[in-house]
Amino acid sequence: MSGLVTVAYIGATILFILALGGLSHPETARRGNIYGIAGMTLALLATVGGAVTDNYVLLIFGLAIGGILGIVLAQRVQMTQMPELVAILHSLVGLAAVLVGFANFMDPEVHFDGVEETIHNVEVYLGILIGAVTFSGSVIAFGKLSGKISGTPLTLPGRHWLNLGLFLLTIVVGWQFVNESAAGIGSNPGLTPLLIMTALALLFGIHMVMAIGGADMPVVVSMLNSYSGWAASATGFMLSNNLLIVTGALVGSSGAILSYIMCRAMNRKFLAVIAGGFGTSGSSTSSNQGAVEGEVISIESAEVANLLSKSKEVMIIPGYGMAVAQAQHTVCEITKVLRKKGINVRFGIHPVAGRMPGHMNVLLAEARVPYDIVFEMDEINQDFPSIDVSIIIGANDIVNPSAQEEPESPIAGMPVLEVWKGKTTVVLKRSMATGYAGVQNPLFFKENTCMLFGDAQDTLDAVLKKL
Ligand code: TAP
Repeated sequence: MSGLVTVAYIGATILFILALGGLSHPETARRGNIYGIAGMTLALLATVGGAVTDNYVLLIFGLAIGGILGIVLAQRVQMTQMPELVAILHSLVGLAAVLVGFANFMDPEVHFDGVEETIHNVEVYLGILIGAVTFSGSVIAFGKLSGKISGTPLTLPGRHWLNLGLFLLTIVVGWQFVNESAAGIGSNPGLTPLLIMTALALLFGIHMVMAIGGADMPVVVSMLNSYSGWAASATGFMLSNNLLIVTGALVGSSGAILSYIMCRAMNRKFLAVIAGGFGTSGSSTSSNQGAVEGEVISIESAEVANLLSKSKEVMIIPGYGMAVAQAQHTVCEITKVLRKKGINVRFGIHPVAGRMPGHMNVLLAEARVPYDIVFEMDEINQDFPSIDVSIIIGANDIVNPSAQEEPESPIAGMPVLEVWKGKTTVVLKRSMATGYAGVQNPLFFKENTCMLFGDAQDTLDAVLKKL
């Protein structure tokens, strides 16, 4: 039986690698998902069938509760709530690592001697440490992404010293834990240092994510994704489950690569993000950093339709507001009409547009916008001078020129789509409110920018009718 389980685990690992490969491009993402589902089904069957327990009733009960909760959540979640859902799911992986760690440590049947005992204790310690940081960090990220906690970075005086102090304390407490457990003195040797470390790790997770500002949240999302992978891997070590070790490592390393890509997209150093303080507010309306004054030119849907009809080159820049308005289908219809008129329509996608990596690509793929007219920021940024009309749909921070023009701006240095270099820019949004980073946008006051106010779904519907 164990040979069969090993073969199934190898098969599942291959399917997971194929899934990651597939998910790297919108065109193959559906296939990647199918590989992932197949891999997870195989992994579950092999683990359950591999006699991990004698108590199958309890196991099936647990599987049923988890499965039903998963189905209900997946059906109910709105597309705009996906980032929060991902954050809360990461927190569950962390919590599982903590619980498995304690259960493993207290299980009288798990017994090692000598060096093996020390290795096992270090595994348990690290597993709980990573799990607790992932858990509390993800809960705070959930709060920030859902707007329940302010996006303003918490910059405590001496916060770097606090982090360093917490880190050094966990090493000291870890040393105590390993020694106490090995000596086997008292009723529960090692439990007190383990509990102290868990409290420190929870505190560290909270402090780390609280210190990160609104504009840096993309990096936090991918970083916690990575942590959840390492937490799963640590759980695999504790349970001696090879598949969990490998799968956790795959998630951990792909999350780390994604964090690197996100840092590059934001022009930020990873350590600077972790140190926190970048980006000022998560509120879309409350903050008005770097208030810009000037005249705003508003425009009506009919005029926008007219402008579009007369142009040869159109660039569409979707942002978070398109997801809120669920306007992607109307955008696709408008694209079809314009292309039929012989107008060259392209999409420019900023790497951190929306609220999760690939957010805009997912929405455009759902609406069946052809992939070959969807371009990454780096591919099209130099083309704006030849663009007749750029349509900005519910985007704000990703087209904010102050990232380039104002060294004091909280988003200074972040690469942005240089739409203002085009002939005319039309911005679709409901008000003059700021974006996720809470920074006012000078683009709205430029001479070649017009504002089409209203919910993007309504205004685009009106444009489509006129077209
Ligand atoms: P934002 O800067 O958040 O701007 C979105 C704009 O959409 C808002 O200014 C809002 O203005 C408008 N809007 C909202 N609902 C709308 C609706 N129904 N119809 C029309 N407009 C609507 O979005 P962005 O430009 O996509 O930039 C993304 C930001 O999120 C960046 O700061 C990024 O760092 C951050 N972030 C990204 C991620 C990832 S991984 N992508 C994760 C976390 C945070 P009104 O209220 O005036 O309508």
